[in-house]
Amino acid sequence: MSCKVWAHRGASAYAPENTVPAFRMAMEMGADGIELDVHLSSDGSLMVIHDSTVDRTSNGSGRVVDMTCQELKKLDFSYGMAEYEGARIPTLKEVYGLIKKSAMTVNVEVKCDEVMYPGIWDKLIRLEREMGMQGRIIYSSFNHYVLLKIREIDPDARIGLLYSNAMVDPWVYADHLKADAIHPHCKAALLCPGLMEGCAQNGIDVNAWAADTEQDMTALIEKKANALITNSPDVALGLLAR
Ligand code: G3P
Ligand code: CA
Repeated sequence: MSCKVWAHRGASAYAPENTVPAFRMAMEMGADGIELDVHLSSDGSLMVIHDSTVDRTSNGSGRVVDMTCQELKKLDFSYGMAEYEGARIPTLKEVYGLIKKSAMTVNVEVKCDEVMYPGIWDKLIRLEREMGMQGRIIYSSFNHYVLLKIREIDPDARIGLLYSNAMVDPWVYADHLKADAIHPHCKAALLCPGLMEGCAQNGIDVNAWAADTEQDMTALIEKKANALITNSPDVALGLLAR
């Protein structure tokens, strides 16, 4: 099976990250999936945004957890890209609605790093079922307790363990947590001896992120990663087509 290409925050090299235009572009490019980040608004909506505040990516300021969905929706998320002026923050429900008719996988990264969102696991599984997205989603997080919580609520939910720096024998840890996948930074994946073999032998997928140079993409493809997560899905798809 060839390496899959997941668009990181959508086709974020070309359109504002984590917005509908970025996800639509990924779909049009032929990506196999999208990666996105989720936080909770003050009124409990699942909002697609990377940071815990809106400061970097919008014309507003403040924490997501302190603003309602309606307040967040008033902000401009074009992130300095004039042609996307007026881009809004999407809810996770809106993104599911957009990609539901495609065959794309959605990698939902649950952001419980700076702010903990108690109960976000219930909302995620409820929405997955309501939108008929079962089997299409893999949840990841740097907070592995959150992934265990998701798995506790839905034993069929797929979970991927996010990490940044090289770990020794990560498949042992993944096997211990009964994870479906590891999501290492691409350098951590490429620098860990025996990682691909160890994961393959234990039935654990390797979905590596920050794969944004042709060199890293090529190395991951050659090493038979399950998926590479990139800001430039068109480049990765071009390499795979060659
Ligand atoms: O899910 C992979 C990657 O997105 C994790 O890092 O900071 O881009 O969310 P970050
Ligand atoms: Ca992410």
